[in-house]
Amino acid sequence: MSGYVVVGTQWGDEGKGKVVDLLGSHVDMVVRFQGGNNAGHTVVVDGNKTVLHLLPSGVLNHDALCVIGPGVVVNPFVLLKEMETLESQGAKTDNIRISDRAHILMPYHVRLDELGEESNSKYRVGTTKNGIGPCYADKYSRIGMRMCDLRDWDVFCEKLKETLAFKNAVITKVYGAEPFDYDELVEQFKPIREKLVPMMIDATDVVNNALDEDKTVLFEGAQANMLDINYGTYPFVTSSSPTAAGVLEGVGVGARALGHIIGIVKAYSTRVGEGPFVTEQLNATGDALREKGAEYGATTGRPRRLGWLDLPVVRQAVRINGLTELAITKIDILSGLKEIPVCVAYKLDGKEINYIPASLKDYGRAEPVYKIFKGWDEDISQVRNFADLPVNCQKYIRFIEEYTGVPIALVSVNPERNGNIILKDIF
Ligand code: GDP
Ligand code: IMO
Ligand code: MG
Repeated sequence: MSGYVVVGTQWGDEGKGKVVDLLGSHVDMVVRFQGGNNAGHTVVVDGNKTVLHLLPSGVLNHDALCVIGPGVVVNPFVLLKEMETLESQGAKTDNIRISDRAHILMPYHVRLDELGEESNSKYRVGTTKNGIGPCYADKYSRIGMRMCDLRDWDVFCEKLKETLAFKNAVITKVYGAEPFDYDELVEQFKPIREKLVPMMIDATDVVNNALDEDKTVLFEGAQANMLDINYGTYPFVTSSSPTAAGVLEGVGVGARALGHIIGIVKAYSTRVGEGPFVTEQLNATGDALREKGAEYGATTGRPRRLGWLDLPVVRQAVRINGLTELAITKIDILSGLKEIPVCVAYKLDGKEINYIPASLKDYGRAEPVYKIFKGWDEDISQVRNFADLPVNCQKYIRFIEEYTGVPIALVSVNPERNGNIILKDIF
């Protein structure tokens, strides 16, 4: 069982990129299995910050092969730009491969996402406007363009012509916006095709071969459990499965391949975009935490909504993913608070519940039941041993373990690759 999975347990931005980069030095391969460039994964090494959107966060450890899996939706223009930026910073990108089954996120997907979001519907999701939903919708409507289509130019052009006619009808007739010009689109794809075709592989075959040879493969989740298309706060979710199950369908590996399934838990909660958020703090405390934690979107720059740690949310992630370990991040940001509330249940219609109701109307009415922890004043960002943490901080961390029943492998105390307290050796 040489497969490792990293997933978000809340609403995204838990610090998955940091943890994947850290684990990346131990593995032979890092694989993205879902989502697209809606992700913003930050890696900080010696003060240098890199934000990755489509490239796996293992890319800075050049020894690992970085694979963009079949379940990812790939905006090829964004991908090549991201590679160019990395190269200009001196990083190597010859270790990047793309699944030939991955769907191509087309310029019209971006436009349709923007138009949908600007339409002022009650169900405006607050998406990243990167075309993720429209691209997955086409995939499941069986009118998507796939990477392998680029290998055969005639097939690509023929498919594009047919699909574009339909997309243009929606763009012009539903939204009254400007259509895309077929010839212009074709011209845009000609030069990038030359670059993309040599990077394509049968990723399912390559990853399974690696697992058969007992190589270590790390699967990098984007987004998180509460944004899951099935189990999140639908419709305020993303359009993929950012869970361990997403690895199975998004790469094509068997469940037995997954040995360690590591859930990243931010020590408080953040959310970007619309949707219910029971522990949200729309007050000075929330604002102060946003500033201290630099909680602004790594992809869109939007201010993230702030709230206390919500353990029923984490509990759902534990169950749905079958988490084997947790990694706690950003606990350093909580230093200086007198008291720290943690949500341990919800109150709904006079009853205490510890699950997430399906109906948004119900979830919107749920009230948090808090357990109050005493805070600590010390700056803990340079602590490297658990026993050296202030006792109240230790109690806070141990409570998360107790509540979830999942061992904590790592506590991150600053954004740097080496800013961690290691509690369990998982390699
Ligand atoms: P991801 O989407 O889950 O990869 O997370 P993001 O990169 O969007 O957001 C996490 C932010 O927190 C980034 O700016 C990280 O550099 C930063 N970060 C990660 N871990 C820690 C930590 O333990 N302490 C602090 N202060 N910052 C952290
Ligand atoms: P990482 O991987 C936080 C949110 C958007 C919106 C909803 C749907 O960095 O944790 P989409 O563009 O996917 O259709 O938007 O999901 N969202 C994220 N929030 N972190 C992310 O990724 C996100 N990716 C999407 O804000 O609410
Ligand atoms: Mg992020």
